[in-house]
Amino acid sequence: MVISGSNPWGRLNSGPLIAPSLLACDFARVGEQVDAVVAAGAEVLHVDIMDGHFVPNLSMGPGFVKSIRAFTDCPLDVHIMVSDPLYFAERFADAGADSVTFHIEAADKPREIIDLLRCRGLGVGVSVKPTTQAGAIDGIIQDVDLVLVMTVEPGYGGQKFMEDQLPKIERIRSVLRPEQRLQVDGGINPITAARCASAGADVFVAGANIFGSSNIAEAITLLQNVVTEKIDK
Ligand code: DX5
Ligand code: ZN
Repeated sequence: MVISGSNPWGRLNSGPLIAPSLLACDFARVGEQVDAVVAAGAEVLHVDIMDGHFVPNLSMGPGFVKSIRAFTDCPLDVHIMVSDPLYFAERFADAGADSVTFHIEAADKPREIIDLLRCRGLGVGVSVKPTTQAGAIDGIIQDVDLVLVMTVEPGYGGQKFMEDQLPKIERIRSVLRPEQRLQVDGGINPITAARCASAGADVFVAGANIFGSSNIAEAITLLQNVVTEKIDK
């Protein structure tokens, strides 16, 4: 078995992280925009994979990740919103992902996915949709590096933040070990990021707020400042 990834979650700074979602970037200028967010201080890139089946949208595939892997050494945090997470976890490990987050709702054998990713040396995340209770991941929560609480219904960027997910964030944070990450994804901007940080999140995926901004660097800096100020309290 080839060790391919390098689990980023233990070696990144343990403070709050902003993870720009490449789903929202200009696909005609991906390289330029990756350079811009990395130069602005982004320490991890979030790649939203959609299969048009688990979610009603189609995004990018392993070939996209392979190209980004060849272009940057910034850690690639791949979020697979797919109906066959075991198959695609391996495909994206092969493509160069550093971490893969799968959805508990699609995983009939979550432990097999975790074991595969661990064997490949990748980071392991599990995600819950807004309508999924926190208890759905009780059986594996101790074995992952990251829990992703979706703050929108997965499938599209640019949606409105779902504040009814805040109690779920608090509940999950209360059972995570300090080194385990709690990521939020969907409708994240400086206001919603602050609320998620107060509830216990420490990795913030943002697409529209960053790539929709006229000043990418400013958008990332503002998000970083807001969450750092909240979490350092
Ligand atoms: C939903 C996607 C979005 C995306 C971020 O399936 O996962 O949440 O990453 O979208 P924004 O930040 O534009 O709401
Ligand atoms: Zn995502």
